[in-house]
Amino acid sequence: YNYRVPHSRQEILDCLLTGLRRLEYRGYDSAGVCLDLEPVPPATPDGAAANGSGGPANGSSADGAAHGPPGAPATPPPLVIKASGKIAELERKAYEELREREVDLTSVFHVHVGIAHTRWATHGPPTATNAHPQVSSPAHEFVVVHNGIITNFKALKGFLAGKGFHFVSDTDTEVIPKLCQFLYASSPTKVPLSELVMDVMGQLEGAYALLLKSTHYPREVVACKRGSPLILGLRSAPTPGSAGGAAAALARAVSGEVGAGPPAKRPAAEGFECFFASDASAVVEHTKKVIVLEDSDVVHLQGGAYTLFNAAERNAELAAAGAAGAAAGGAGRVPPVAVSRALQTLEMEVSQIMKGGYDHYMQKEIHEQPESIFQTMRGRVSRMGAGADAAAGGERCIKLGGLAEHVEAMRSGRRIMFVACGTSYHATLAARQTVEDLVSIPVACELASDLLDRRCPIFRDDTCVFVSQSGETADTLAALEYAKARGALCVGITNTVGSAIARSTHCGVHINAGCEIGVASTKAYTSQIAVITMMALALSEDSISKRDKRNAIIDGLAELPEKIRQALKLDLEMRRLAGTLEGEQSLLVFGRGYNYATALEAALKVKEVALMHSEGILAGEMKHGPLALVDDTMPILAIATKDSMHPKMLSVIQQLLARGANLLVVCNEGDDDLEELCGSPDKRCSLIRVPQVVDCLQPIVNIVPLQLLSYHLTCLRGHNVDQPRNLAKAVTVN
Ligand code: G6P
Repeated sequence: YNYRVPHSRQEILDCLLTGLRRLEYRGYDSAGVCLDLEPVPPATPDGAAANGSGGPANGSSADGAAHGPPGAPATPPPLVIKASGKIAELERKAYEELREREVDLTSVFHVHVGIAHTRWATHGPPTATNAHPQVSSPAHEFVVVHNGIITNFKALKGFLAGKGFHFVSDTDTEVIPKLCQFLYASSPTKVPLSELVMDVMGQLEGAYALLLKSTHYPREVVACKRGSPLILGLRSAPTPGSAGGAAAALARAVSGEVGAGPPAKRPAAEGFECFFASDASAVVEHTKKVIVLEDSDVVHLQGGAYTLFNAAERNAELAAAGAAGAAAGGAGRVPPVAVSRALQTLEMEVSQIMKGGYDHYMQKEIHEQPESIFQTMRGRVSRMGAGADAAAGGERCIKLGGLAEHVEAMRSGRRIMFVACGTSYHATLAARQTVEDLVSIPVACELASDLLDRRCPIFRDDTCVFVSQSGETADTLAALEYAKARGALCVGITNTVGSAIARSTHCGVHINAGCEIGVASTKAYTSQIAVITMMALALSEDSISKRDKRNAIIDGLAELPEKIRQALKLDLEMRRLAGTLEGEQSLLVFGRGYNYATALEAALKVKEVALMHSEGILAGEMKHGPLALVDDTMPILAIATKDSMHPKMLSVIQQLLARGANLLVVCNEGDDDLEELCGSPDKRCSLIRVPQVVDCLQPIVNIVPLQLLSYHLTCLRGHNVDQPRNLAKAVTVN
């Protein structure tokens, strides 16, 4: 939008498609793009010439029939191109259509509103028709892309169908452009697009981040959000020869944007380019200056400026006025409230969202773990008196600035409840015992959806810790609101600065693992375990009896990057072992104690990326059912590194071997017992030897070869590593 240096249609299309590729990890079953078909003529000062004016009031017909006060749109319908499948397919189709329609790719624009979307199907299969943008009419009067779910879409659809609207998709989203068109046509006077969108927001239930454009409002776009993430990136496009001046203009225009209050209108005429996206990865190559939008925020780009409103207050007032005014013959309009938001600087680097020399993001992220775990601990772990001094009892300490003010409240709380989904949940299980051991208060780990399903009791003196890589997972976010409403102290552990969970919690810790793109979480998992462990250390700082244990763990943390580096040397061996599993149907994974979580997480990795059935089983439960599955055809992975559970795991392995199981065993280097038990050539058993670390940190090392195993298994089985079937990285819908 609003290019200082005009951009060609080709450049605009490239920018949109590249943005989609960066976001493809969030959803990748279908995609679409909307481009202006013609360069629009220059606007008159009030925009009236381009928009047209006049026309009958109270029209409410559907599907492109002339209606509504402003009359027929003055701009040609924008081009909407959609395809099922990956972005590459959309790209192919877009060029095909542009060629067929003889659209000039070299046309240049000073102002152009292009929108694009990559979908993760919730309502309706991933077909081109169900892809976004969704439109109001064949003339594309209102065009919308949407992330989230509109929960009352059925009621809205019924209402709009009754007004003559014809629905073509199975999506919940399609009600939005149609509702826009209905309200637009019903309005006696032409209202600003932002107000029209706020009226629509007043009717929507559920979660959404929306971008909306209209032929009735050429060169304008409105973005809004509730529940789903949305950021606005602002780039001061350099005028040839005056790049510094443009940067200064950006600084001038957006400086001091903290707090509410007018004026919120920011000039874009000095050379802003505006980028809306669900997350920073689509924006960072254009600008690092972003505004993270809050719930009910509405941004209106128009006439070379952007204006920020918050619809919550206005819509609440309108609803109240509507209730009161209904009896008196209808509510009047309420002007929107302008707000300001802080301009933030992204810390992310473009290189973080590239694959580097690796074939896949997952592979890159597995191999990044020595560095990511180091970054997680940087500035937080200090070992005064390390080495020789440490042996003599030197002091170590943990600093978690984000928790400092709440440590006392957490220590004196009734319990600590971890809440998470997927891999993040496994990280909470992996570290639970450490928190129990060191802090000595009851600890619960809850799956967010289950906590909500059960309406689990939560009290004011509970500490609820929400663990989420993305910080946007809808179930975790909903559980956070649930816990907050019950007065619990809410702590966030996320990998995404500025995410909804980071913002909504009372305090928290960023895991600082760096951007994770592969849908299957790897480096975030190990860093989450490290953060929860550090949290336990911080909470137990006052305990004399735990001092030796604490010091051993802190020393263990410091050694972790090197131990992970050693574990990564198993890469080739894991590829070989993956070859032995390639044609199998199923893999059982046994672990207990600290490594029950390792079993669950290893099985999840195999399941989600290699698309092989796999089950993580608590080894203590083996005799209560799972043993029935064991015979000489069933491959089994057992985690038997040296901790207090080791003797019990040896016994489990003996029983499995006795039934002819085909075993892979994760063990520590130099484990003579296991070498003896599994080493003889008559046993079908392969040992995966990992370096030893302090027991509670061993899950961090143990998972590394198993991540590699699932990675290689996926490649061998020919599946998509970074975009596993039907899954998405950030599940922003319930
Ligand atoms: C999805 C992803 C998983 C992730 C889970 C929780 O299912 O595919 O990799 O573990 O969401 O995500 P979060 O961002 O909350 O950690």
